[in-house]
Amino acid sequence: MSHDDFPTDHPAVVTCGLPYANGDLHIGHLRTYVGGDVFSRALDRLGQETAFVSGSDMHGTPVAVNAEKEGVSPESFALDWHETYAETFPKFNVEFDNYGHTHDETNTETTQGLVRDLADGGHLYEKEIMVAYDPVDDQYLPDRYVEGTCPYCGAHARGDECDEGCQRHLEPGEVEDPVSTITGNPAEYRERTHKFFEVSAFADYLSEFLDRLEGTSNARNQPREWIDQGLQDWCITRDMDWGIDYPGENPQDLVLYVWVDAPIEYISSTKQFSERVGADAFDWEAAWKEGAHDAHPEGGEIIHVIGRDIIQHHTIFWPAMLEATDHAEPRAVMASGFVTLGGKGFSTSRDRAVWADEYLEEGFHPDPLRYYLATNGGFQQDVDFSWEKFADRVNTELVGTVGNFLYRSLLFAHRNYDEAPIAEATSDEVEGRIDEAIADVEAAVNDYSVRALGDAVTDLARFGNEYIQRSEPWKLVDDEPEEAAQVIHDCVAVAKAIAVLFEPIAPEKCERLWDQLGEDGSVHEVTVEAAREGPAGDLAEPTELFAQIEDERVEALNEKLESRVAEAEAGDGGDADDGEDGDATDGDHDDTDDMTDIEPLSDDRIGFDQFQELDIRVGRIEEAEGIEGADDLLKLRVDLGAETRTIVAGLKRLHDVDDLPDTKVIVLANMEKAELFGVESNGMVLAAGEEADLLTTYEDAAPGTKVK
Ligand code: 2FM
Ligand code: ZN
Repeated sequence: MSHDDFPTDHPAVVTCGLPYANGDLHIGHLRTYVGGDVFSRALDRLGQETAFVSGSDMHGTPVAVNAEKEGVSPESFALDWHETYAETFPKFNVEFDNYGHTHDETNTETTQGLVRDLADGGHLYEKEIMVAYDPVDDQYLPDRYVEGTCPYCGAHARGDECDEGCQRHLEPGEVEDPVSTITGNPAEYRERTHKFFEVSAFADYLSEFLDRLEGTSNARNQPREWIDQGLQDWCITRDMDWGIDYPGENPQDLVLYVWVDAPIEYISSTKQFSERVGADAFDWEAAWKEGAHDAHPEGGEIIHVIGRDIIQHHTIFWPAMLEATDHAEPRAVMASGFVTLGGKGFSTSRDRAVWADEYLEEGFHPDPLRYYLATNGGFQQDVDFSWEKFADRVNTELVGTVGNFLYRSLLFAHRNYDEAPIAEATSDEVEGRIDEAIADVEAAVNDYSVRALGDAVTDLARFGNEYIQRSEPWKLVDDEPEEAAQVIHDCVAVAKAIAVLFEPIAPEKCERLWDQLGEDGSVHEVTVEAAREGPAGDLAEPTELFAQIEDERVEALNEKLESRVAEAEAGDGGDADDGEDGDATDGDHDDTDDMTDIEPLSDDRIGFDQFQELDIRVGRIEEAEGIEGADDLLKLRVDLGAETRTIVAGLKRLHDVDDLPDTKVIVLANMEKAELFGVESNGMVLAAGEEADLLTTYEDAAPGTKVK
């Protein structure tokens, strides 16, 4: 690895977070894959030797729980979904060099080998821990088989993650008030012996690693807080049948935790790519192993593209595993924000989603969606999808700016000059502008900004439109043919640069443009240098690259979506739960439909005295602001009559910060104090459901009034 600007002399591996093989893909899932594909293509265009790999995440409870609901074996369930994903990604021009899965032989061997290395290096130890167990069903309840309360923030937590609160990874035994997600039975904790990886011993290494880490800033900031709070060792085994067996002595028949074998698939998938193309074409060892190649003893440039909810795995556990086993450390982690649909989360159970297949069946081309997902905001910001916004950006930018410039220039050129070269050379002005666009693309790659890659091209097309408009070649063509030829040559040169520079975002459209330009070979094979070379010649009759989306179409699509959601909700019997997918609002995550189920009412009664112990008060929010490094949390100042308190609440993604001041809320005033992202929270604001619907008062009870 190096920290030199791209392109470097080292092989690069761009990876995308592995999707759990457990359900249909919607367009929200595509964000990370499109982002990874765009970035990897952009590296290719810069001339960087790059492998783009991923695979399906077959193991773990996200797969086992869903397979159990369907009454099929996890293996056949996961394999079916794996095949679906392997077919779906290319339909969106997400072209992995290798798309494997975690259950195949390569990954099983690589995983077991790496875990043996961890053991041989003295990095593993055994410990007795308490594991959730369903005494009625007589089964252990690892990870998503159990839900309850997060011990850190009090939010609802699902197995191994605090999915609705502080987003922490939770170790076995940490969830409070555990309940089986399968039977609803209250669980008990039983003692078991499990294997642990001594992550805590890597705290200093990880701190330094984070100082070197490139990519999006959220991938550095959050882990720094976790390290400062003290790292825990990591339980790497589970009481389950489905998974990769722990190698070596294993009397309890434990399997490895899914988060051990999942990232190892990044290596296995690269290995499979090398085996297919030959080590001369791409040497996986040179990329992944320290000391495997003299020219780059620190390994290659490893770039992980993930959703922001799995930052901890990629910046703490995974680099510690790599460091402990002499593998290359990641150079960059690009963690994307979530995708919402019309301001709300995607919901698989409510059918509130635009499904990947559905998008294509509506007759839309994949490239406009790629453009939208890649450029609608910074990579780490959330992106909202609505048919209106999508249509607006397609119509204004792809049709109005890029498509308009290309079509008017190429049509004029084809009609007037179908033979090339039409001028000796590109004018200085236009050559300079193309150089600027190339520099913008290089800067975008080195800033890990897929949005800036798009902007570089729309800016160039804007220039093209302005240039042709001001030069008016149609007025010159009869009287000043040479001047007209120069203008048109320049415009075709800009069109060619657009084909090369826009290829990462709109690969299929740019290949068509390449053909219209009469260029040889494929635009997927050239580097940015081709953008400087000027037009080749024989122009084909152009057609418009992008199609306008009419208002009526948007209305029809909206109606379709709304009526489908309404139907699904009616079918659910008017279930009050909003049913937003837990972590599935981002680019690459699994959907568990059980999020919509109303939890059974508790039989665990409490007395009035116990209720009175809860000091619940009316409050009024005075101020609300974000907290540095926390994606979900807000720091509130809440007037509770007797005093004004600071309370941290997980409302950031769900409420408009500016709307909150003056809102009356209900507060559990004697909630234990907790420190979140360095802010002491003194109380808890009560809210209902997945969208944190704030509890408030029916009339005008004043701040401080006790709720009884
Ligand atoms: O959170 C998830 O969806 C996981 N399947 C991601 C795994 S990424 C990796 F490390 F392999
Ligand atoms: Zn939490």
